[in-house]
Parts: sequence; structure tokens; C-alpha cells
Amino acid sequence: MEARSPRPGRTAVLAAVGAHVPSIVVTNDDLAARLDTSDEWITSRTGIRTRHVAEPGRSTSDLAIAAGTAALRAAGPDASIDTVVLATSTPDRLVPATAPAVAAGLGLAGVAAFDVDAVCSGFVYGLAVANGLIAAGTARQVLLIGADTFSAIVDPADRTTAPLFGDGAGAVVLRAGEAGEPGALLAVELGSDGALADLITVRDGWFAMQGQAVYRQAVTRMAGAARDVLARTGWQPEDVDAFVSHQANLRILRAVGADLGIDAERVHANVTDVGNTVAASIPLALAHAHAAGRLRAGDRVLLSAFGGGTTWGAATLVWPELS
Ligand code: UT7
Repeated sequence: MEARSPRPGRTAVLAAVGAHVPSIVVTNDDLAARLDTSDEWITSRTGIRTRHVAEPGRSTSDLAIAAGTAALRAAGPDASIDTVVLATSTPDRLVPATAPAVAAGLGLAGVAAFDVDAVCSGFVYGLAVANGLIAAGTARQVLLIGADTFSAIVDPADRTTAPLFGDGAGAVVLRAGEAGEPGALLAVELGSDGALADLITVRDGWFAMQGQAVYRQAVTRMAGAARDVLARTGWQPEDVDAFVSHQANLRILRAVGADLGIDAERVHANVTDVGNTVAASIPLALAHAHAAGRLRAGDRVLLSAFGGGTTWGAATLVWPELS
């Protein structure tokens, strides 16, 4: 599926980013103290050194509100959000959706608010949804948040999954604008294959993943979606200044970059510090790269993701001047 808006004043344009990670930091040595694992194994297989875990009593909505607050502050006093989209697969409750509570918590009660669940691809799916709402004229300013608390569903005694995930939230403000503006979403590609639903799932209350099969799928699908979106945008891999993909595993990021012909310096990685934060992964990576001065106005940015479903997606934009 593809999403693109040719109509003037009806393209989603990035206007602000914000992020939040909880204060509790879990190191590889902390995990090795209670699991049959080691810093050496985790670092060499995943690149992850630390991950953040939600404080007791805090849930996905709390993290989402914190990231949303940061993005709204960055957007400035003139921001006028009419829609809140929350990408998550760890909602506070099965019913109702978490986005209305997030909107209310941000002082935005009354706006449209709903959840999108595409697991680790949720943020890219959310971008396409926000772009579609803006293209249709239904929304003018969307607050898109990716937030997950996988600490609630990852078995702390399972060494095959516990080291991989961290909690967090990232948010962007998307406003209606022109297709040629910096920050305009240039193209989005989405896909899924439900025949592989069992690769990433929750069984008996705990997250379960077929690691090696997911690894292979992640590399193939992220590279494929990236290639498709580059072709639709009219960019070659060498045109990309920053490749900000879903932060699943440092080896996966590098393998996708190598497959595409994007060298390691252009592959942004914060998985080392935060682990796999699922739907929060790409907006957290964008916010961290922006804060670190690693994304500059005019940079051609490529996003790609793969996750449970299975689902995948990719998007392109030129980085705008942001506060
Ligand atoms: O966001 C999308 C979802 N997630 C991903 O994209 C993750 C995709 N998969 C991966 O990143 C990798 O497959 C993992 C990091 C999960 C695993 O790395 P791997 O190189 O594929 O290792 P493996 O599963 O083949 O396991 C190798 C060995 C096994 O032992 P045996 O059977 O060879 O004796 C595992 O039992 O490593 C063992 N092992 C561990 N050893 C120490 C598995 N987890 C650990 C651990 N510490 N934490």
C-alpha cells in the first residue's frame, strides 16, 4: 500500500519531535546477575548495552503523555492539535483504546484520538494514517505518538527476550502543509504478511519470538520496503543522509544498511542505549538524533520498520528546521 498526497496544503509536514524514556536503567550486567547470560553475549549479538524500564505504576499512557508534552512544547504555543494517534501494542487496557486517555492527559480532551497497532511498524503505519487524515482534510494537526511498555509482557526470566526490549515513547507533531516544504512526508510504503503471525506473539501472557526467523524477515522486509520507498521518492541509496530504522538490533540495522548500500556513518543507532522500544523506536531515534545535532535541516531521511504481524513499512522526508 502506498500513501501520497498531491493536493496543495494537504501533506503532513513534520513540525516538532519529543521523547521520553523512564528513569530506571537496566544494564547488561544487571541482567547477567539474574539470568544465564553475559554482557559479552548481549553486546555481540544485539549491540544493546542498556535499556530503560517504566517505574512501578507507570504504563504506556504515562510515557506517551510525557513524550507528547515534549513534542507540544517543541511545537510552541501556536500548536493546535485536532487528532491524537497512538501507535502501541501495549495499551493500558484492552478496551478502551489508550489514545483518548493520552489526549485528555495532555489537556486535549475533545480531539479525535485512537490507537494504531502494527507492533514495531506502528510508527510508520501511524505516519501513513496521519498523512491520509491530513490529505483528506479531516485533520490539520496530528500528534503522533509511538509508546510501548514491553516490560509488562516480557518474561523477566526469559534470557532470549528480556535483554532485547526497553520501555519508551517518542512523539511528532505533523501539520498540514505543502508537498515541496522541508519536513513534508514524501512517500510511505506499508505491507504485512499474517501467514507469519506466530513469529512474534504473546503466549500465556508472555511475549514470544522466533528470533532467527524474525532476524531474517526483518532484514529482508526493511530493505525491500526501503528500496520501494526510495524508488517512489526518486532517491538513490547514496542520496540518503540519515537512515533511521526501527531499532531492533545493531546487527539488523547494519545488515539492512549494507544491503541497501548505505554506509555505517549514515545509519543512526540508539538501540545501544534504549534497546528495542517497539512503536517508540523510530520517533525516539529521531528525537535523540535531532537533540544530538545528527539530523540537520535539509538532510534526506529514510525510515524503515519491521514488526509483529508481520508488518513492515518505510517512509522518506527531508529534515526541516526544528527547535
Ligand atoms: O523488532 C522486531 C522484533 N525483534 C527482532 O528483530 C529480533 C530479531 N532477532 C535477533 O535479534 C536475534 O535472533 C537474537 C538477538 C534474538 C538472537 O541472536 P542469534 O544470533 O540469532 O542467537 P540464537 O537465537 O541463534 O541463539 C544462539 C545461542 C543459543 O544457544 P545454543 O542453542 O546455540 O546452545 C541460545 O540458547 O545463544 C543462546 N542464547 C543466549 N545465550 C546467552 C539466547 N539468548 C541468550 C542470552 N544469553 N541472552
